[in-house]
Amino acid sequence: MVKVNRVVLVGTGFVGSSYAFALLNQGITEELVLVDLNEAKAEGDAMDLNHGLPFAPSRTKIWYGSYTDCDQADLVVITAGANQKPGETRLDLVEKNTNIFKGIVEQIMASSFDGIFLVATNPVDILTYAVWKFSGLPKERVIGSGTILDTARFRFLLGQYYDVDTRNVHAYIIGEHGDTELPVWSHADIAGMKISEWTSKHETNQEDLDNIFINVRDAAYHIIERKGATYYGIAMGLVRLTKAILRDENSVLTVSAYLDGEYGHNDVYIGVPAVVNRSGIREVVELDLNKKEKEKFSNSVKVLKETMDPVLS
Ligand code: LAC
Repeated sequence: MVKVNRVVLVGTGFVGSSYAFALLNQGITEELVLVDLNEAKAEGDAMDLNHGLPFAPSRTKIWYGSYTDCDQADLVVITAGANQKPGETRLDLVEKNTNIFKGIVEQIMASSFDGIFLVATNPVDILTYAVWKFSGLPKERVIGSGTILDTARFRFLLGQYYDVDTRNVHAYIIGEHGDTELPVWSHADIAGMKISEWTSKHETNQEDLDNIFINVRDAAYHIIERKGATYYGIAMGLVRLTKAILRDENSVLTVSAYLDGEYGHNDVYIGVPAVVNRSGIREVVELDLNKKEKEKFSNSVKVLKETMDPVLS
């Protein structure tokens, strides 16, 4: 019998339900199980999504389930937890969500789950570390969404500035998914040209480029001020990651990965480019950062560890 892919989604709030909707519309998995404390919401989402199946590109079996459904899951995606309110930073959520996660992961592991975790809840780097600790799974099978959305925002805004298809813009945001993240200008390229060469041939105002990064870093605050939460961008980033895993793509994506000496740091989950496939994280891609980027990256590691230690040490 052909092995079918099963994804279990824990959390059917704005992010989770947007992820489920995008996953169904892109036909990425054969089975999708919805789990949430709010059983009525999860059951209603399963019913609502099932009614859209005739319009979907392929068949996805969707049901409202429980943690016991994780025993056959290839991937468990966690979006459950409290999200930022206006004026709150992602790091402000650490204690509340770490406690929620302890209970969730214990129940998932009780189902003898042996697949891959994908974590999206903020502060995502610290909560991904927490899932790794609580689950006992190998580090490469616990992945956070990291700066996948920040990198997408960076590529979008650069593409918009130069009127170039975002798929021809390659530029990473690394570090904390949050206020200490940083742009890797030293390795950015457009149309195969290093950004320095591109800017010498296309009208560029350096202040505009600086503002592009600031708008990337602060995007969530601006969206939350307007609509109360962010969910479409991150949901599509989670679907991209799900596809890279289930289809064994070996795609390079900026995810929250465990550092075991890479970039000169250890024992931290943080946003870096990594090769993602069916086994999880195949390898962390170690860019040769310039001096300023190294300093900013080290600061990001420091802030994450200072925030994490009181809660997880
Ligand atoms: C954002 C959330 C996912 O950056 O942290 O929109």
